[in-house]
Amino acid sequence: MNDITKSPLWTRLEGERDAVATTTLAAMFADDPGRAETLTQEFDGLSVDLARQRLRTETLSLLIELAREGGVEAKRDAAFAGELVNATEGRAVLHMALRDFSGLTSAAAAAEAKGQRDAVIAFADAVRDGRISSNGGARFTHAVNIGIGGSHLGPFTAATALTGADEPLEVRFVANVDGVDLSTQLRGLDPETTLFMVASKTFTTAETMANARSARDWLTAALGEEAVAAHFCALSTNTEAAAAFGIEAERVFPFADWVGGRFSLWSSIGLSIALAVGGQAFEALLRGAHAMDRHFKEAPLEKNLPVLLAVTDLWNRVFQGLAARAVLPYDERLRMLPLHLQQLEMESNGKGVTLGGDPVAGPPGWVVFGSTGTNGQHSFHQLLHQGPEYVAAEFIGVAEPGHALPGHHEMLLANMLAQAEALAMGTIGVSDPHRRCPGNRPSSVILLRRLDPHHLGMLLALYEHKVMAEGAIWGINSFDQFGVELGKVLAGPLLDALARDAQPGHPASAASVARLKHWRE
Ligand code: F6P
Repeated sequence: MNDITKSPLWTRLEGERDAVATTTLAAMFADDPGRAETLTQEFDGLSVDLARQRLRTETLSLLIELAREGGVEAKRDAAFAGELVNATEGRAVLHMALRDFSGLTSAAAAAEAKGQRDAVIAFADAVRDGRISSNGGARFTHAVNIGIGGSHLGPFTAATALTGADEPLEVRFVANVDGVDLSTQLRGLDPETTLFMVASKTFTTAETMANARSARDWLTAALGEEAVAAHFCALSTNTEAAAAFGIEAERVFPFADWVGGRFSLWSSIGLSIALAVGGQAFEALLRGAHAMDRHFKEAPLEKNLPVLLAVTDLWNRVFQGLAARAVLPYDERLRMLPLHLQQLEMESNGKGVTLGGDPVAGPPGWVVFGSTGTNGQHSFHQLLHQGPEYVAAEFIGVAEPGHALPGHHEMLLANMLAQAEALAMGTIGVSDPHRRCPGNRPSSVILLRRLDPHHLGMLLALYEHKVMAEGAIWGINSFDQFGVELGKVLAGPLLDALARDAQPGHPASAASVARLKHWRE
């Protein structure tokens, strides 16, 4: 594996860093009034504006060269061709096949995915229009998705963004093993009209299984065991475990194991989306993602939106030394996006070794956090403006509003642009150190024409491919997540210690267990 930090390009980028350090964003805009044009790229109603990043056009060209030298194109093509790019787990990375409408990936994988998608869409539409009903023949009014991680965040994000005001069915999401979550989501529901989806790639995830068992108890207490067949379905690659849980074969919606958890919303895991917004909108979401797949695969790197975002992250993370990026959607419909991106980016690229097992030459992952604007302005933006450490900001705005209230949307968008401007330019002529905003703080602005299924699909796929491109440059495997395993292993004995009389092994845990048990007596 090539170490890109040893390449002559890297040295030239260090020179760029030094050059940029001697100037400011204000000066860069003054020197080049066309900067916003030059540093913005658009594709199909989605634009990425990097003009407020602390980089020059020369910097961006070198970064694109770095992506080329880092083998982004070869690694991207290997993924689309179905090669086992997730080498540590011996798997292909083919979520693009789930939304392949034009032969961009493996024909066999796309055909398998189409069959599964057709079944999901047929089922969702039949539930929505009442052709599939409850055990007692009632129309389903609610569906509850029980899943965690990628079996929760992706579908929840999409359903939240797209659900209209007069859908025939309300979809709710439960993830946390904290019983408050399931109890809260079941509040007000009638077992007779509630459908459950157990969404788990592995069908072994402890939290999901615990919630699924409690949901089944809730249902059977009211309707008896015989109701499970009509009221439960499973979305999983582990069809045997779903059957063992008691879910009827025709209610098990499978998908292939080349679909990673955090990339699974496009698979049968997306049933909750199809139930929330209908099969047609679900397919439109996938078609939007497919448009971004083709863009990622075919656009030159200089105009390639995922690659532009990837190298900008690398620039900020490594050459500007930033440790965090704030994702700031100025659209309430996108309120779940920061949480989805946290998993997508931090679980994918929060890695310390390359595919070959060597220490990675730079830090590929960073802290991703955020919330919707304008709420964040009245919460954590203070640190973005005046904290001594810089945080990269990423604003996301949508041209068309999701409501009919006059005046609100202009206010929202004006605030978004004002924040980006304030971060970049700071206060001018203010000498009071308390009131002074230094400016020169980097941000990107991503704009969408509208938040319909097509553009949401594009946006979500944009981030997926950014993650792939960034991982490729560093030579890491973005598609495994062994770091989360240790905590799962340790939770077993600690559960025995808390629930039974087993002794916890570690003294730090033993003290906490003793205190918790004492307070629970
Ligand atoms: O523990 C992390 C993880 O494996 C994620 O990668 C995944 O999205 C989540 O758990 C849920 O896994 P599953 O869909 O198998 O229940």
